[in-house]
Amino acid sequence: MLIAHLSDLHLYTQRSETGQAPRDICLVVERIARDLLSLAPRPDLVVISGDLADGGTEEDYRQIRELLEPLPMPVLAVPGNHDRREAMRCVLGERLAGLQEGEFLHSRVDMSGVTLLGLDSVVAGRPEGALCGKRLDWLERELEKTQPLVFLVMHHPPFSTGNPHWDAYSLIEGRERFTAIIDASPKRILCGHIHQPLHIHWGAHYGAIAGSPAFQYHLVPGSTAAPTESQVSYSYPLHYCQPDGSVLVHLRHIM
Ligand SMILES: [Fe+2]
Repeated sequence: MLIAHLSDLHLYTQRSETGQAPRDICLVVERIARDLLSLAPRPDLVVISGDLADGGTEEDYRQIRELLEPLPMPVLAVPGNHDRREAMRCVLGERLAGLQEGEFLHSRVDMSGVTLLGLDSVVAGRPEGALCGKRLDWLERELEKTQPLVFLVMHHPPFSTGNPHWDAYSLIEGRERFTAIIDASPKRILCGHIHQPLHIHWGAHYGAIAGSPAFQYHLVPGSTAAPTESQVSYSYPLHYCQPDGSVLVHLRHIM
């Protein structure tokens, strides 16, 4: 089982909400799609941990649907703070794997001994994330029965990023109960939001933040400086789940 982890594509057609995504971001995403298609074997699944769009108009999501069109594998995606739930569900809903009905854009996919749960951590109109009681109830129910290996996909990191500026914009509500719910067994938590690849051993869990092909930051570990954009190369990780339960993480560099 091979899983590609993308995040923070920040695609837009008319207006970039952040003002930071390059005009030709769709060409970069096309290169990523070509790279995914060049792999043999190809990934069984692609996850996108939020900020698919940079503003989230229906036109933005139509462009994203076109860019995902060549990919034959399922795509599990959660929203980020620059997405819009209604437009994302309306335009992309049928393309996204395991998308659940209801108020939030949660997802569930079970395949080849792996359960992937996509958690919607968005607070409308706010950059920081939250998991309210309803969302945590859903997570608790879904975790009652899973495959041996469990991946949680969410935009906002539930662990400290090591930088106080980012931590103020991460998951700021529901962390304590989230931790209590997941602590029964080790999980692999895939996030986005901070536009810099990071890995963490968090208690019994492994956590990873994927970089962004749109714009990236490069914070030195231990620095308390406010993040600023940095020209660093982009790569995305492939998680290779082996039959013995181990998971290898490979990086694919996109030039
Ligand atoms: Fe982002």
